[in-house]
Amino acid sequence: MSSKNTDYQATLLAIKEASLPFLEMGKVADYIPELAKVNQHKFGIHVALLNGETFSIGDTQDHFSIQSIVKVFLMGLSMAEIGDDIFKRVGVEPSGDPFNSLVQLEYEKGIPRNPFINAGAIVLTDILLEKLADPKAALLSYIRKLSCDDAINFDEAVAESEKKCGFKNRAIVNLMKSFGNIRGNVEEVLDLYYHFCSVEMNCVQLANAFAVIANHGHSIDSSDTSYLSVNQYKRITAVMMTCGFYDESGEFAFKVGLPGKSGVGGGIAAIMPGEYSVVVWSPGLNDKGNSLAGLRALEMFTTLTKSSIF
Ligand code: DON
Repeated sequence: MSSKNTDYQATLLAIKEASLPFLEMGKVADYIPELAKVNQHKFGIHVALLNGETFSIGDTQDHFSIQSIVKVFLMGLSMAEIGDDIFKRVGVEPSGDPFNSLVQLEYEKGIPRNPFINAGAIVLTDILLEKLADPKAALLSYIRKLSCDDAINFDEAVAESEKKCGFKNRAIVNLMKSFGNIRGNVEEVLDLYYHFCSVEMNCVQLANAFAVIANHGHSIDSSDTSYLSVNQYKRITAVMMTCGFYDESGEFAFKVGLPGKSGVGGGIAAIMPGEYSVVVWSPGLNDKGNSLAGLRALEMFTTLTKSSIF
């Protein structure tokens, strides 16, 4: 096999130029009205190597709604609380269905297929609501620690906007409640879930947090603090690989070849274990709810740098 191309800055420049025509093609997530206001022409990509070097191009300092990317942090935090017991209430198989589908939940008796579809993340939210005195503060603190940045917050306008229009999630949580897989009050669970999804971050902050995951759960500074156990690291990255892109997870593995997670804010975070994290942001989505230009950018990134886990 030919050796890796590590000219990251030239690679990012080539990706940005090639991405421009695709920024027009996607569609912003207008089912959350607040997200429909985002400028679709934004594009940023940031790479954080585990040796501390970073490479950036485009709008990497702009904050955006991380949405479902938060599900990775939710999985980490809920495993930190109750370990493998989370898997008594949520599975680890790809669903092959859209992120907000109700179909399997009915015949699988309220047990979501995996932690990254909405139903699964709502169960994790219910677990944190039950276990923690202040789950909102706990999640922010967890993300701030991973990113080494105390300026990370919820976007109240986005949380409120989704709460008003989140009819599918309301159906999902009620269906799971009817099967006994939601213990808290439905309104409180939804409010907390919408706050979790509304976390605002930029590409740099997200790449810093995912660099810790790429570093097998250890901080990349000299303190070498451990944030994930070996078990948590293995499980979280496996679910990123198999379920991170819903019914496009196979396609992401096929084209990009990295564990990753997308959100309807247009962000995608991915990791090359032991080497780097990479975060791309482009708000226009494809029909699976994943960033259209972002997917192409990452495909180009792993192709040009000749790096994938395979
Ligand atoms: O619950 C929802 O529909 C959103 N808050 C999150 C969905 C999402 O980000 C799907 N990802 N691509």
